[in-house]
Amino acid sequence: MAEDIKKGLLGIVVDETEVSKVMPEINSLTYRGYAAQDLCAKCKFEEVAYLILNGELPSEKQLKNFEKVERKERNLSKTLLESIKNFPKKSHPMDVARTAVSIMGLEDKETKDNSSEANLRKVMRIFAKTPVALAAFYRIRKGKKIIKPKSSLSFSENFFYMCFGKVPEKEIVKAFDVSLILYAEHSFNVSTFTARTITSSLSDIHGAITGAIASLKGPLHGGANEEVMHMMNKIKKPENALNWINNALDQKAVVMGFGHRVYKSGDSRVPTMREYFSKVAKVKKDKKFEKIYDIVEKVMIERKNIHPNVDYPTGPTYHLMGFDTDFFTPIFVISRITGWSAHILEQHAANKLIRPLASYKGSGYRKVVPLNQR
Ligand SMILES: CC(C)(COP(=O)(O)OP(=O)(O)OC[C@H]1O[C@@H](n2cnc3c(N)ncnc32)[C@H](O)[C@@H]1OP(=O)(O)O)[C@@H](O)C(=O)NCCC(=O)NCCS
Repeated sequence: MAEDIKKGLLGIVVDETEVSKVMPEINSLTYRGYAAQDLCAKCKFEEVAYLILNGELPSEKQLKNFEKVERKERNLSKTLLESIKNFPKKSHPMDVARTAVSIMGLEDKETKDNSSEANLRKVMRIFAKTPVALAAFYRIRKGKKIIKPKSSLSFSENFFYMCFGKVPEKEIVKAFDVSLILYAEHSFNVSTFTARTITSSLSDIHGAITGAIASLKGPLHGGANEEVMHMMNKIKKPENALNWINNALDQKAVVMGFGHRVYKSGDSRVPTMREYFSKVAKVKKDKKFEKIYDIVEKVMIERKNIHPNVDYPTGPTYHLMGFDTDFFTPIFVISRITGWSAHILEQHAANKLIRPLASYKGSGYRKVVPLNQR
């Protein structure tokens, strides 16, 4: 009898979570019960990171303490810095992030301790150091000197400072902060499920995050924001957009930055990110990508009824901010470390080894013929 295979685990509920939910009644992604767009309007990224990790929004004192720890943990070890300097310059920064977290695991004195207290301390180290490692690689591969982190700067300001040597206009920093808030968590997506699967064997948090980064890299997941930019670069100018997208759809191409496994009538993060994309375009006095954006979106909805996901507006926003395209998904990483970590903690708290079954379609029983008789 044919087994009921749920390829891609489509529609399968595998566990419970308290971290986030897309709430149909408000048609929105929520973190610990708060709508993501509300958090964007009223909080900075560090508050949301605290919320995701600890379950509640911080008081002023709790936030101050959280920021103090994050800022203190920013410095990289000599070994990690030297390793980054020796990485091939052509490495994809996602592979740099993955390897950097792996090296952090080699060095962390608490790697083996899976208690929630130790895991929270390790999260703070991974959360604080990963952007520093990425910014160091950003500079090195351009032949520039590494810029040390500055503890007077916020998480977002410091990332700009370490990449570009200066903090940009406050509208740009806010737009970046908003993108980090929107990217921070999204329930049992591929990378989070990967992190939970690794954790389910009682492996360590550095391993789980390393695996999650590898999973996020793929173009069907986090890599989509980079693919969106490649698409916009191919389209080049608004006058080409209509023909380009119609041709793509005629050829049955998958258009990056559109569609979603969970949202079938629009990703609730998009309107907020679209608004901040517009603000950045205004500051940068460059409306070209907004025009391309609108034309492609209109055709996708009219012809396919497929709506954009959050990667569609973040791609061109990061481009306008000055980041290289292959840094878009690593930016997603520095934010999603919070969501992954909350799930890793949750998995440890009520663990069950994740081990699905497969329907075997291979050869029937065979006897092994010795090498010299084959
Ligand atoms: C995200 C994604 C993998 C969701 O996949 P899914 O839930 O498995 O949905 P499917 O791939 O089965 O899509 C259902 C239908 O819509 C079409 N479709 C979905 N996304 C599409 C897109 N971006 N462009 C063109 N067609 C798309 C599929 O071809 C399929 O059509 P069919 O029924 O005629 O075969 C998919 O929408 C996609 O590949 N999007 C582009 C990558 C992307 O932006 N990823 C970031 C996600 S946040």
